[in-house]
Amino acid sequence: MKALLLSEYKHLAVADLPTPTPGAGEVLIRVAACGICGSDVHGYDGTSGRRIPPLVMGHEAAGVVAALGTGATSYRVGDRVTFDSTVYCGECEFCRRGEVNLCNHRQVVGVSCGDYRRAGAFAEYVTVPERILYRLPDSLSFSDAAMLEAVSVAIHAVRVAEVAGGETALVIGAGMIGLLILQAARAAGCSRIFVADVDATRLELARVLGADATIEGSGESLTSRIEQLTSSRGVDVVFEAVGRPETVAAAIDCARKGGTVALVGNIAPEVSIPLQKVVTRQIRLQGSCASAGEYPQAMEWIADGKIKVAPLITAVAPLDDGPSWFARLYAREPSLMKVVLDPRMNSRAASA
Ligand SMILES: NC(=O)c1ccc[n+]([C@@H]2O[C@H](COP(=O)([O-])OP(=O)(O)OC[C@H]3O[C@@H](n4cnc5c(N)ncnc54)[C@H](O)[C@@H]3O)[C@@H](O)[C@H]2O)c1
Ligand SMILES: [Zn+2]
Ligand SMILES: [Zn+2]
Repeated sequence: MKALLLSEYKHLAVADLPTPTPGAGEVLIRVAACGICGSDVHGYDGTSGRRIPPLVMGHEAAGVVAALGTGATSYRVGDRVTFDSTVYCGECEFCRRGEVNLCNHRQVVGVSCGDYRRAGAFAEYVTVPERILYRLPDSLSFSDAAMLEAVSVAIHAVRVAEVAGGETALVIGAGMIGLLILQAARAAGCSRIFVADVDATRLELARVLGADATIEGSGESLTSRIEQLTSSRGVDVVFEAVGRPETVAAAIDCARKGGTVALVGNIAPEVSIPLQKVVTRQIRLQGSCASAGEYPQAMEWIADGKIKVAPLITAVAPLDDGPSWFARLYAREPSLMKVVLDPRMNSRAASA
């Protein structure tokens, strides 16, 4: 099969690899779409240590069931499916509580770190355990389905922040995750949602996707604008979707007394926090990791238009164009959002 192989850091090329055979409890999927995630782009040069070559990356995928391993009985060949990027064991303490994102034996599709190596979906075929699959409604295109993982991350953040309806919210970071959190927070009932970023083009998209106000800036200018917008009260919930020291500090500054800061961004491995402010204002700091069963909700909100993913997809391209899209994303070319690779497409170069 054709696969996009990271043979060494920063070196991606389409290679011919053996088509995998589904093991017991596994399903072989013919990939129809796989999104390039920020974590793939960060992993690609070795900085994250989570894409140790040789590796086929890709965990935001959808496709069609092509074969079933022994004991895999819930699906049929031809079923349209997606899968959770987290491979959870289904048996540990956390899995039994439904907190599959916290599984003691958690692996991620398309990741290799010191502990494991799991081939991903930048390939014509991928195998995954049957238990992580979800059936796709016919109305959902494969490229939109490749957005389900990121949408689930956003819905999970809104869920762990315990949004009940009527809250004011601030989303810091209008990247892929921030713009999905904006929409998920709205769908969950937040009444006024502000979005902050340092990039004006991202904020334009935030307005299109329903932000009540956008704030261009970070640090001091952001906190003073939130003071103005909330009559010095602060917002009920802040979603931090950047992950830098200054944005985490601003998130704490913008929360009202007794409010919640949901920490989603994590570019910086460590930040310092204004401890006394958190304590005396009794602010709840809530981490949010991946998702835990939010895929069905994500499908529903995409289907009924509450969450719009089309404006966030920059391109759907053949696998052969993967190396050049990775290079463009790595170079931080402006205005690029999600790039989805479809291994069924022929590249212009190949067909010319
Ligand atoms: N917790 C999770 O499960 C989870 C899942 C996916 C991504 N993430 C993390 O979420 C964060 C966002 O991911 P993404 O895919 O949206 O990235 P992205 O690159 O698409 O977006 C990041 C945004 O932050 C903005 N930004 C940068 N510095 C800023 C500053 N000082 N003030 C305000 N905005 C600033 C950028 O302009 C950009 O729009 C990353 O840290 C990523 O690692 C977490
Ligand atoms: Zn991802
Ligand atoms: Zn488990």
